[in-house]
Amino acid sequence: MLFACSVPNLSTGALRRLQSICAGATTLIHRLIRLEEAGPGLLAALDEMREDGAQDIRVQPIGLPFSESLQSWLPGVLAHWQGEPSNSEIQLSLGPEPARAEAASAIMLAQALEMKPRPLEGVRPALGKPGWQDPPDFDFHLLVCTGPRCHMRDAASLTHVLKAECAEAGISKRCLTTSTGCIFPCNRGPVVAVYPQGHWFHIPDRAAARRLVREVLCEGGTLPEFHFHTARQARISNEGDLS
Ligand code: FES
Repeated sequence: MLFACSVPNLSTGALRRLQSICAGATTLIHRLIRLEEAGPGLLAALDEMREDGAQDIRVQPIGLPFSESLQSWLPGVLAHWQGEPSNSEIQLSLGPEPARAEAASAIMLAQALEMKPRPLEGVRPALGKPGWQDPPDFDFHLLVCTGPRCHMRDAASLTHVLKAECAEAGISKRCLTTSTGCIFPCNRGPVVAVYPQGHWFHIPDRAAARRLVREVLCEGGTLPEFHFHTARQARISNEGDLS
């Protein structure tokens, strides 16, 4: 059983609670992945389950409610994975959105409303935290898409890889790396956009990430094999060096 969860902003503690809910929901061998932001991607998780000897895998979406666009996207992705020669013997199926979510959401909401609310007397009013005023002074802002279609291709680990490569190259302080949701060119995923230069790249693996840091950020190179777009303003001002 592969539980595939689409819940933005899931903290470590909330993920742990979800893991224990999943463990209580099935006696089968199972694992839980997120479809966005962090952790192993869908295809990597399926590969690992196959390597572990799984013969019959049910992918069960979790999300209250689960996104309709993800629900319509998942069958094609799973069919693609199953079409690979190494996966042809595996039975793969896709579970429904849990109760189309409404009934489950209603029960959860009713239970929450029965619980005592927390009073706010004595809580110090605050809309932010001290010191969270100014962005770091950086030369490059790397936008690493960890939306579901890039995440499927392991973009979540790409964020960590890029940060590690920047650290190794000694440019961490010059480079702000941010994980984002979908930024449109999903079929090019994993996608990394470099601003203010406005250059967009397909970064398929660690070797490409290393080259992006070394050749583009450190040396001002172009990485044409992986570059696929330059933002309009960079084209107009002709400040970008890439065609
Ligand atoms: S999910 Fe990354 S560009 Fe759409």
